[in-house]
Amino acid sequence: MVVSFRKRWDDALRSGTVFRLSSKLPSRRAPMSEHRSSNQSNDVFDYKKRIALLEAENTLLRGFIDIGRTLGTEHRFEKLIPMIIEKISLHLNCERSTLFMVDWQKGQLWSQYAQGLTTQTVTIDLKIGLAGASFLSDRIINVTDAYEHHMFNPYFDHTTGFRTRSVLCVPIRSEQHRPIGVIQLLNRKTGSFTQDDERFVLSSIEEFTPAIEQGRLQTDQVIQWFQHLRSTIDFERGTLFLYDPETDMLVSRYAEGLKEGQSIRLDLHLGIAGRVAVTGTHMNIPDAYADFRFDRRTDDQTGFHTRNILCVPVSNAKGEIVGVLQAINKKRGAFTDSDLNVLTSMASIIAIAVENAVLFTEQRNQFKSLLQVMAASIDAKDTLTAGHSEIVENLSLAIGRKLGLTEEELDVLSVAALLHDYGKIGIDDYILKKPGKLTPEEYAQIQKHVDITYHILSKMYFASNYRKVPIIAASHHERLDGSGYSHGSRDADIPLMGKIIAVADVYEALTANRHYRNAMPPEKAFEILKDEVSKGKLDGKIVETLESCIFQTTDPGSADP
Ligand SMILES: [Fe+2]
Repeated sequence: MVVSFRKRWDDALRSGTVFRLSSKLPSRRAPMSEHRSSNQSNDVFDYKKRIALLEAENTLLRGFIDIGRTLGTEHRFEKLIPMIIEKISLHLNCERSTLFMVDWQKGQLWSQYAQGLTTQTVTIDLKIGLAGASFLSDRIINVTDAYEHHMFNPYFDHTTGFRTRSVLCVPIRSEQHRPIGVIQLLNRKTGSFTQDDERFVLSSIEEFTPAIEQGRLQTDQVIQWFQHLRSTIDFERGTLFLYDPETDMLVSRYAEGLKEGQSIRLDLHLGIAGRVAVTGTHMNIPDAYADFRFDRRTDDQTGFHTRNILCVPVSNAKGEIVGVLQAINKKRGAFTDSDLNVLTSMASIIAIAVENAVLFTEQRNQFKSLLQVMAASIDAKDTLTAGHSEIVENLSLAIGRKLGLTEEELDVLSVAALLHDYGKIGIDDYILKKPGKLTPEEYAQIQKHVDITYHILSKMYFASNYRKVPIIAASHHERLDGSGYSHGSRDADIPLMGKIIAVADVYEALTANRHYRNAMPPEKAFEILKDEVSKGKLDGKIVETLESCIFQTTDPGSADP
């Protein structure tokens, strides 16, 4: 089992010592006399073994505390990662350490941070060398002599003069369990890398992957933080408030004791939390009701009785206050300086996540608004079909939700559906707006919009999770029997999301006014869709799903049509 270093770190801070027996060690020591009477030589051996274990545990714990402090004091991601890697390297007493991240497009690992290399980025082929092997197999590779291992690539040694001996490679997975990189440690100065070393790296990774990957401040994560806190400080209620610049108030992001969906909003000039947010200074109130700064109105409304409070600011890398972390009612006595240390360190970790969440939201909004501008530019070509892309997006999402697609998949579907007809930007207006029947040449022209969609979208930069958007968007006119365009792909070769968009697209086109005919009612549209299913062109399950979405709109629990 992976040991959580933060728990150990918090334990150590609470007890004021780095010496602590772990569960690996005997929990109760038998009196020496009993041992002596049974078998003295075994006693001596056992005692030495215990000391050795204790020393090993102590060294391990020192490492955890060291990294814990780093997480607690450094907010900036670009500085945080090198610091953590260097500390792992220092703790394991090795010569070089590198954090490699994967670039799937190029099939390479690239060095996010390489100890000893300040400017040069190292890239290595995924299929060559121990780091790639560890990444691809998702296994730890621990070798005493690299040159003895058939997967070792001596290229860097040959070009740099460095001599690799022992190697420890540990794969890194994201919080969503996607493989994202590898930590590679070279040449342990004393002996080979041990299982304890593997455990140490794994535990460290467990702690900093959120810093690498975390974009959203998720409730699960916040609950986990409070669990960590509670394992160290025994208090009744904890609250994380975030500052809302729009209203100039503190809003509870997570408040123990409140029902889901409820939140607390506090004026900045009221109460302890407000004061901490304004001054940026922690407050430790041993007797709340005796303190004139305490605002007891929330207690009066809820019937809760606040006895004591420990409250610390959460500030970002620029030193701006982004929130407040508060613990209420320590179960035994008042909050201590050691509790303050723990809460302050936790506030630093929260600050990283809050900052990442803000950046993530900003980037996401920017991306979404770009997509909407793109979709609007197609609408601008023809007012009669205006809104088509957005309706197809909503219909596709409703189908996707009912079919059980994940949030990540729905995100991809949303983008592909919104941009599926973007290639119409390259089609002559007179064809798009022609009221009568199209000539075969004109029909051939209009079919080209699919390839244009693909070409334009494949030139756009999409983050890795959106990479399939161009293919999905460009498959919305393919049909299961191979009669569609532009590739004439068949069922198994058409992406599920392409099939979903196809159904949503046809339904929207049938139920909206067009230059060549009027809108038809949903019932009639489904007759046509089902006919297409019977001809083997559209997916029956998807059409059924859309039908259930459309005709269940009065049910408040159903998906949006
Ligand atoms: Fe289309």
